[in-house]
Amino acid sequence: MSAILSVRNLTRRFGGLTAVNNVSFDLSRGEVLGLIGPNGAGKTTLFNLLVGIHKPTAGSIRLDGREIAGLAPNRVARAGMTKTFQNVALFQESTVLDNVLTGGLLHEDVAGARARAAAILDRVGLAGIAHKLAGDLSFPERARVEVARALCTRPAILLLDEVMAALTPVEMEAFLALVRTLRADGLTLIVVEHHMHAIMTLCDRILVLNFGGLIAEGTPREVAHHPAVIEAYLGKAYAEGGADA
Ligand SMILES: Nc1ncnc2c1ncn2[C@@H]1O[C@H](COP(=O)(O)OP(=O)(O)OP(=O)(O)O)[C@@H](O)[C@H]1O
Ligand SMILES: [Mg+2]
Repeated sequence: MSAILSVRNLTRRFGGLTAVNNVSFDLSRGEVLGLIGPNGAGKTTLFNLLVGIHKPTAGSIRLDGREIAGLAPNRVARAGMTKTFQNVALFQESTVLDNVLTGGLLHEDVAGARARAAAILDRVGLAGIAHKLAGDLSFPERARVEVARALCTRPAILLLDEVMAALTPVEMEAFLALVRTLRADGLTLIVVEHHMHAIMTLCDRILVLNFGGLIAEGTPREVAHHPAVIEAYLGKAYAEGGADA
């Protein structure tokens, strides 16, 4: 499989703190890659580097062979990669449709973006609430709206940062089904999530970050039994329950 994304020696320091430390990995077209690790491990910072919110201190990010490290977020989005935002609110006073169409303004005028947004809302199962105010959404609705807004930028690669955090197990299953349909339609994804069930059932491969550095990489089963991952993150109880827990 050809790599759609190649990250090499990516590093970001904040003063004396190295939040992302010499990270290298490839992402294959059509792959769903999980990114896990303890709080503060550097997952969101890595996403922010990939989409241009933070500039790398060092390292390279190639998207479809083109160097994008240091480009502004709108240029990275135009090149085909965007993310959902952990804990960043939608425009509460605007409708779902208006929130989603902002993503489309990257490529087209308001009328075009509105048409695209309506089609995407249909695709993610939200056509019925297009005119609801974002401030009135339930958690599962909000998760879908965040995905819809990102999809409206027409990404080839979508980075999901803890979008399932507030969902009940039943809501999470429904959301996972949506992600699987997006993947079946050709989207490539990197998923950050603390819900291990979601990560283990969704991802082809998992990277594990700890203190900014990659400590393991492998299939869900390999990672679940990796001593360094159990030590740093999963704990012994999880490993004994198995990767299917
Ligand atoms: N803008 C910033 N300025 C200074 N330090 C930062 C900044 N952003 C992140 N950090 C620090 O970088 C480290 C990595 O944070 P990051 O948010 O990437 O972790 P995370 O893996 O996403 O954690 P969580 O699972 O809690 O979301 C933390 O020590 C954090 O305090
Ligand atoms: Mg985070």
